[in-house]
Amino acid sequence: MNFRQAISKDIDSIYSIEKRVFDDSWSYESIDYEITKGKHSSAFVVEKDLIIIGYIFIRIIFNEGHIINFAIDTQFQHQGFGKFLLKKSLAILNGNTNVFLEVKEANLPAIKLYSDFGFEEFNRKENYYSDGSGVIFMTKKNIKYGVV
Ligand SMILES: CC(C)(COP(=O)(O)OP(=O)(O)OC[C@H]1O[C@@H](n2cnc3c(N)ncnc32)[C@H](O)[C@@H]1OP(=O)(O)O)[C@@H](O)C(=O)NCCC(=O)NCCS
Repeated sequence: MNFRQAISKDIDSIYSIEKRVFDDSWSYESIDYEITKGKHSSAFVVEKDLIIIGYIFIRIIFNEGHIINFAIDTQFQHQGFGKFLLKKSLAILNGNTNVFLEVKEANLPAIKLYSDFGFEEFNRKENYYSDGSGVIFMTKKNIKYGVV
């Protein structure tokens, strides 16, 4: 498997996966924005045999990273690709960034994966998503503040 930065020619593949994976999928324009325009946006893909099978979008502002989209194509889920992609992406953020994300409270596979990577719940809200699902806010605090 291969990890690399997403580029504009990847948008069609990512959009196809997005529609397969999510009921409330992102628009083509939103994906395009994160890959080609967003000043604070970073987008990475994982490939298998040169085919894109997953992606992650992260917005990085100063020392905060926000994972705003993350998916592995349906037929490739639960085979280790998500773990690989998340590990590589977090390594790029280095140890000097606190990372935040939102996850549906019923999405146990994702919550388990994030917990395994050291993410911890810090808040939750009912009726957060358009389908009525609640959200869990998670963070991985990497910045170590010294005593002053
Ligand atoms: C969540 C997601 C990105 C994880 O990627 P993945 O490639 O399927 O996950 P991996 O195979 O790397 O598994 C990593 C861990 O996730 C958890 N996991 C993944 N799929 C799981 C499943 N079906 N049931 C239970 N746990 C699961 C396990 O903890 C697993 O670790 P383990 O193999 O040691 O048990 C992927 O399943 C996905 O795209 N899901 C739909 C979209 C989504 O929920 N995105 C995240 C939104 S916040």
